[in-house]
This record gives sequence, C-alpha cells and structure tokens, in this order.
Amino acid sequence: MISATPSMFDLSVARSATGGIDSFVDRHAPDVASTYYGSGKVALRDGLAGVAHPGGNVVVPAYLSPAVVEPFRELGLEARFYAIEESFAPDVADLEGRIDDETVAVMSVNYFGFPQPGLERIASLTDEYDCYHIDDNAHSPLSVHEGTLLGTYGDLGITTLRKLLPVPDGALLYRTDEELRERYSPSPLAGPSERVGTADCRFVATSVVGAVLERSPSLYRSVEAALSDGVDGSQSVDPEARYEAAKVPMSKLSASVTDGADPDEIRETRRENYRTWRGIFDERDDVTIRYDSLPPGISPYEFPVRADDPARLLAELEAAGVAGAHTWPILRQSVRGNDEYETANRLSAELVALPVHQGIEPSEIEAAADRLRR
Ligand SMILES: Cc1ncc(COP(=O)(O)O)c(C=O)c1O
Repeated sequence: MISATPSMFDLSVARSATGGIDSFVDRHAPDVASTYYGSGKVALRDGLAGVAHPGGNVVVPAYLSPAVVEPFRELGLEARFYAIEESFAPDVADLEGRIDDETVAVMSVNYFGFPQPGLERIASLTDEYDCYHIDDNAHSPLSVHEGTLLGTYGDLGITTLRKLLPVPDGALLYRTDEELRERYSPSPLAGPSERVGTADCRFVATSVVGAVLERSPSLYRSVEAALSDGVDGSQSVDPEARYEAAKVPMSKLSASVTDGADPDEIRETRRENYRTWRGIFDERDDVTIRYDSLPPGISPYEFPVRADDPARLLAELEAAGVAGAHTWPILRQSVRGNDEYETANRLSAELVALPVHQGIEPSEIEAAADRLRR
C-alpha cells in the first residue's frame, strides 16, 4: 500500500553519507542564517517579530492552509489574502492593490516543491514598496531552483522538515536580510530540544502501529475510517488550536533523523517517483498534470494533478492501494466560498496530490497503476 508519508523504518532515511540536512543547507545557502524550530509557523513568528508593528499587515496567497496566518495575527498583523492564477502565480493587480504603507511583508509560497510562478515579480514588488519578502518553502526543504535553495529567495523564509522526513516536528527559519538578522531575537522555542520527550515516544509508537497497518490495506482503511469519525480529526481542529499545538521546540528525535538523512538520495527517489506518476497520468484525459516539467534540483513534495472528478479519482486511487492521496488545502474561512478568490476555491476542490516520498518504490507505483487501469 502507498502511504501519505515515509516511515521511520525506511532504511534510506537513516544512512547518510553526506552529512544530513545541515550540510545540504550549508552547501546550497552558505551565507544564510538558519535556526531550527518545531514548526514553520513559530519560525515565521520569530522571524518577523523584530519588525512587526501594531496596525501592520502581511499579504499572503489565498491558496493556503488556514493556520499559516496565525503567527502574523499573534504579532498584531492583519493577514490580507491575494488572489492567485491557475498556474499558482499571484494575480499581480490584486496583490498590488492590497499592499499599502502599513504592509510589513508579502509572502510567496513554493507549492509542492516547485518555485511559485512569479517569484521574481513578488521580489520586485517588495523592493518597490519597501517591505519584506517572505519565501514560504514549507513544502520542500531540498528543492534548489537555478542554484538557489527554495526558502532563501526572500528576506526571510521557512521550510518544514515534517513534510520531508518521518519526524514528529521540525522546521528551519532562514534569514537573508541584514536588518532582519540584527533584529532577530530567538524565543525559547528556537533550536532543537536536548531531551527525549513524550512526543518522541508517541511518534515512535504511532510509527510502529503505522508500519503494521501498512501491511494490511483493509485493516488500515478500517482504522482510518474509525478515526475519521472522531470529533478531533485533524481537519476539524481550528487554526488557532493548531497553532497553539505547534508551539514546541524541535524534538530530539527529529534532530537525529534530520542528521541521519541522505538529502541527495531522498531527492532522487522523490524525483523518480514523480516521473513514474507522470508517465502514468500522461495517458488520462480526465486529469491534468500540474507540472509537466521537473527541472533539475527540484525535490517534489507530492505529485499534484487537477481532476475533472476529484472524488472519483480519490476513490479509484484508494481502491488501487494508494492511501495517501488527498485534495489540498482546506482554505481559511474568509477565503472559502469568497468570489474574490474563485481560482483558489476551485483549485482547493479539484487539486489532488499523490505521494512521491522516499519510502515508495517506483515498482509499487507501477503496480498501483496496473490496478487503476483494470
Ligand atoms: C504553505 C505552508 N506554509 C506553512 C506551513 C506551516 O508549516 P508548519 O506545519 O511546519 O507550521 C504549511 C503547513 O502545512 C504550509 O502548507
């Protein structure tokens, strides 16, 4: 069965010949200051805290998970949403119309591990309006675009290790701008924890259960169904509660998995899995592949497609043993159903993301494709 995330028990995770994530970041962004956090959201808060002022605002894409703007709200900043185009590029007129004298920062998002189309345009707007550029690269810590590590394009950036590795938490804050570096004052949540905590133990226990369940798709589905009936399924957690839960330092377990990971091998495996899905979906005319081209250096987070009938595609995938496919994202309440954000709303319903993580063998994807064709 093809799961959503890699497991702690995938061997590729724990045999680094190249020095883990730290040395990858050093190699690709040697002049950037970076600090570990438990979550990208808290990293965003600490990164911007030194320059936030009451009454200020941050302009972010409407196509975004709802909790991501909570750190800005905690800093007293209004979150303003800009419309996006079908390609995920900003609707530049809409974006520009939302910037004013109180704008502290504009955020770009590199969706699914690919640079956001229009990244350079966002950088030139932030120069023009004299505000900061946040490069949100939560989706893919290992993506390098034309020699630049994604997340380090802006004055400030983040990436989330939990989306790459089998870890309970973990993120990096990048600071490239001189003034932001000087004004940065780390909160007690900065840096990895020195102790093994209950979250580490819980994560290992859950991973063991997950590894057992993965061998039995029918058992996996019944456990998943039972859990999704519960009142506290992750989709029902409100953004504020999600943010509060993210206020933890990076765990010791995450730090050691991060040290042991082999970035080059992980990126190569993800790329191969991406290409395998692409070959399979090329044949179908009810599905549009979002990124036909996979440029060198890109480490895909997932394989996103736009489906004519997303519910049918998800059902087909599940029946073929692909448990980890999903639509993305659930939008913030003020964006959901709002006509100003028609494209973001449509994409959040029609976009289906398929897993490409390093725990999957391309042959498993081929086998699932055979079942899909039947
Ligand atoms: C685009 C984007 N930015 C930021 C985040 C926040 O990252 P974290 O969960 O590490 O706080 C997410 C998480 O889902 C995300 O999708």
